[in-house]
Amino acid sequence: MSRIAYVNGAYVPHRAASVHIEDRGYQFADGVYEVVLVAGGRMIDTALHLARLARSLAEIRIPPPLCERALRLVLAEVARRNHVEEGLLYLQVTRGVARREHPFPKVPVRPALVVTARRGPGLPRDLARWAARAITAPDERWARCDIKTIGLLPNVLAKEAAVRRGAVEAILLARDGMVTEGASTNVWMVDAEGVLRTRRLGPEILPGCTRAALLEILAEAGLRFEERAVSAAELAAAREIFLTSATSYVRPIVEVDGAPVADGQVGPVARRLFDLFGAHVRGQR
Ligand SMILES: Cc1ncc(COP(=O)(O)O)c(C=O)c1O
Repeated sequence: MSRIAYVNGAYVPHRAASVHIEDRGYQFADGVYEVVLVAGGRMIDTALHLARLARSLAEIRIPPPLCERALRLVLAEVARRNHVEEGLLYLQVTRGVARREHPFPKVPVRPALVVTARRGPGLPRDLARWAARAITAPDERWARCDIKTIGLLPNVLAKEAAVRRGAVEAILLARDGMVTEGASTNVWMVDAEGVLRTRRLGPEILPGCTRAALLEILAEAGLRFEERAVSAAELAAAREIFLTSATSYVRPIVEVDGAPVADGQVGPVARRLFDLFGAHVRGQR
C-alpha cells in the first residue's frame, strides 16, 4: 500500500512528495510542527495540539495556513488515506518559499503546509517492557523551547547520544543543574518524599499536550501533584521517573546514566498514570 502525503493543498504519493529548496524550513528551520497520536482510528488531544500550533505560529509570526476546521479535515483525511488506525500524524508549517535572506520575505509568501501519517504499534500492552533507560545530557537548546519549532539539532544530538548508550531518551539539564525536559518528552518524577512532580511551564520547556491531558486526568482523579522543577540530585534520588509525549504515552524510566531508579522496577504511580492515560486514549474517560 502506498503512503500519501498532503503538500500545500494536494494529496500526493509519499515518495513523490517534495518541497522547494528555498523553502525557509529547509534553509532556516523557519517553521513549526505537531505530532498527533492516532489510536483506535481517532486523533487524540487534537484541540490541545491545534491550540499549541496556533500559539507556535503566532509566536514566530507565521499566519495560519488553514483555519482550524480545515486543518482537522486535512489531518483526518491523511489518516484515512493512509489507513492509519494506530500511529501518528505529522504536521509541519514553514514560512514558505522565498529568496534566501534572513529577514521575513518583503512580499508575503504563502506558508507551506505538509501533513504525513505513519502507522505505529499502538498502546503498549506490557508496561515492564515499555519501561526504558535514559541518560542525562546538557540542555544546549535556545531560550524559547516553549515554541514547537522544527529547529531540533540540539534535541537530535542529545537523542543520538542516548541511543548510542542504549537509552531511549536524554533528560536535559540546564546550566543551573535543574531538569528541563527530555529531548522529545516531558519529564516527571516521584520524589524521595513521594510527591509527584513535573516542571512548571515556561520558556525552558515545551508545553506538552500529553502533559496537559495528564494534569487534567490527575486533577479529575483527585491525585496530588506539584509543578516544581527537579534538580539532578533529586532525579538521582527519585522513587520513580517517567516521560510523557504523544508517542511515548507514559513511559517509565527504570535506569538513568546506568544507575537503577529506586529498585529498577516500574513504580506504582507510573503504572496508575499509564492506565489512566490508556483509558483516555481509548476514549473511556
Ligand atoms: C522537547 C519536547 N518536549 C515535550 C514533548 C511532549 O509533547 P507532547 O506531549 O505534546 O507530544 C515533545 C514532543 O515532541 C518534545 O519534542
